[in-house]
Amino acid sequence: MRPHTPLTTRRARRRVVAALSAAFLCAAGMTALPATARTGDATDTPPDAPPAAKTSAGAAASATPRLPDGLARTPPMGFNNWNSTHCGADFNEAMIKGIADIFVAKGLKAAGYEYVNLDDCWAQKERDANGKLVPDTTRFPNGIKALADYVHSKGLKFGIYTSAGTRTCAQAMPGALGHEYSDAQQFADWGVDYLKYDNCNNQGVDAKKRYITMRDALKATGRPIVYSICEWGENKPWEWAADVGHLWRTTGDISDVWDSMVSIFKVNAPLAPYAGPGHWNDPDMLEVGNGGMTDTEYRSHFSLWSMMAAPLLIGTDLRKASQATFDILDNKEVIALDQDPLGKQAQVLKSEGGRWVLSKPLANGDRAVALFNETDRPQRIGTTAKEAGLPQASGYRLRDLWKHEDTHTAGEIAGTVPAHGTLVYRVSADRQWPQYPPALDSGADGVDPVEVGSEARIATLTRNLGRTPARDVEVELKGPQGWRVEPVTPTGTHVLPPGKELATAWKISPLAGTKPGPYELTFTTDYRSPRGQRVTQTLAVPVHAVQAPPAGTSYASDLTWVTATNGYGPVERDRSVGGPQAGDGTPISIGGVPFAKGLGAHAPSEITYYTGGQCASFAAQVGVDDETADQGTVTFEVWADGQRVAESGKLTGKDPAKAVSAAVSGANTVRLVVQDAGDGFFYDHADWADAKFTC
Ligand code: GLA
Repeated sequence: MRPHTPLTTRRARRRVVAALSAAFLCAAGMTALPATARTGDATDTPPDAPPAAKTSAGAAASATPRLPDGLARTPPMGFNNWNSTHCGADFNEAMIKGIADIFVAKGLKAAGYEYVNLDDCWAQKERDANGKLVPDTTRFPNGIKALADYVHSKGLKFGIYTSAGTRTCAQAMPGALGHEYSDAQQFADWGVDYLKYDNCNNQGVDAKKRYITMRDALKATGRPIVYSICEWGENKPWEWAADVGHLWRTTGDISDVWDSMVSIFKVNAPLAPYAGPGHWNDPDMLEVGNGGMTDTEYRSHFSLWSMMAAPLLIGTDLRKASQATFDILDNKEVIALDQDPLGKQAQVLKSEGGRWVLSKPLANGDRAVALFNETDRPQRIGTTAKEAGLPQASGYRLRDLWKHEDTHTAGEIAGTVPAHGTLVYRVSADRQWPQYPPALDSGADGVDPVEVGSEARIATLTRNLGRTPARDVEVELKGPQGWRVEPVTPTGTHVLPPGKELATAWKISPLAGTKPGPYELTFTTDYRSPRGQRVTQTLAVPVHAVQAPPAGTSYASDLTWVTATNGYGPVERDRSVGGPQAGDGTPISIGGVPFAKGLGAHAPSEITYYTGGQCASFAAQVGVDDETADQGTVTFEVWADGQRVAESGKLTGKDPAKAVSAAVSGANTVRLVVQDAGDGFFYDHADWADAKFTC
């Protein structure tokens, strides 16, 4: 293992979410202020009146708690347009009708998706002369009632959005503050079944009061309406809203980016004790299918949300969705975890070094167990049936909810989880366990960089976790086309008894001329159960083909690194980091001095080069890039294998470039590390200007 530098803090991650959502708002041409600042000056808008007697919101609350009212006994499922359209032109009647049609045609309705919801920007900028909301006639030429009727005609339910403020977040339409009773009645008259109630432009009015007033206004309509509180977790609604709304957002807005999804998961997961039938934690709507994450990442997103009993509101335009997207959203076995009638949110059993184990109790006594790998390398993650909360039993059925296959275990629940992946099992103390094949835990070790032109060793290990023998076990490791991969020890065994393992050593060498970079080997394990059922497992094993820099002096930006992580956007070559996309930086400049060559990083960052014992020194001019307008504070470090060989000390946006040089003789790898100097990583655009190796 290479030494790990703790680079991120929870605070820092939250800031990423804030920064990302700010970026989104900017992209949509809106005002980007921190959520807490999204209020205006107080107005004197008088509150409208409940139809019968005008009561104070607080008094009404304590006298007649509205909830539980039997709604949202399981987390709401459906669709909301926001994550795919924001206020774009695609958000219109055709889209909403199209989604309702697809819910029916593609079986999503049958899978449990029910609500078809509108988000911000459905109304005109101003109310009419009677104070009523007016639908945007370009988007919804036939009005909202007709649209709700259409959705209802499909056997689905219809949802709408407004803000507990004077205007909505996109500033596009009026909010309901001071108009709660009138707006609620208008929604009910249209046939609305679900209201998302946002928090922007709230004029500093107490959140509890605002959300309770709307709860009472909805109740006064007499129509059952699911009430979704969207105040981003600012006022800890989990502590007071079980009696106010059916669900409450726990975080700022999600964006279609891995870091955003993971940081939201981390805030929402510890709130498990507060969730239950009729009152759910809401970590925001799904991004599955929107294109900013891989399918593996989207499967993790969907698995984690289901484990957390989160609302499952599809946030992609299903009219354009791929089959892979449908396959994720329509995984009925994972949905069943989310919708389990016991209504418990999964608990985090373990989290260590990005390896997470979650367990969710289910109504029939089973447990759902998720093994989530936050890291960018495959990781072995494991727990036991006992730790997961299952009763003592001689064996357990393990149902893999993504592969839809059964095995059994004597108690261990473990596997190698791909980078950013999640294994989800339904675990049962089922007496029928002997009818399922034993679970085999297969993994690979020693997959460090492989130098082109040399030979490396990899060990694979396959262990029987079950109580019955695995028969005719055969393992195979395959390389990319042209690579030599040869076993050094046996690759099979006739019988692998319970608890025993098959270890195989392999020699691998990349095809001559292989370009340095990431490659994948495929490790396959094939076996039979005592009853003859055949099981095949495959695992991708990443390897890096590397080559030491050539003799002489080379710029780091002209070499291929082994890995690079960055706090914001990707590391750039010969440019500053710029924004979140590749290639969006500016020419490198520190303290007014331009540099033609270098690496544009952003704290926390770590860039690893393979030097293969061939290099003598590393040198660079380091500093905060001028694009931050003097903001940002960072430290730069150079590591040769496990040893820190140079350090810049704290540098701010006002400092000139500082020369850093280090002897790296004999080192196999050199890591260039940027830390945030302890103050969070806002504006930490860090340049390794003129960075070069002498080899
Ligand atoms: C806020 C909410 C989002 C979305 C937008 C609409 O940011 O948190 O979910 O509804 O407003 O403007």
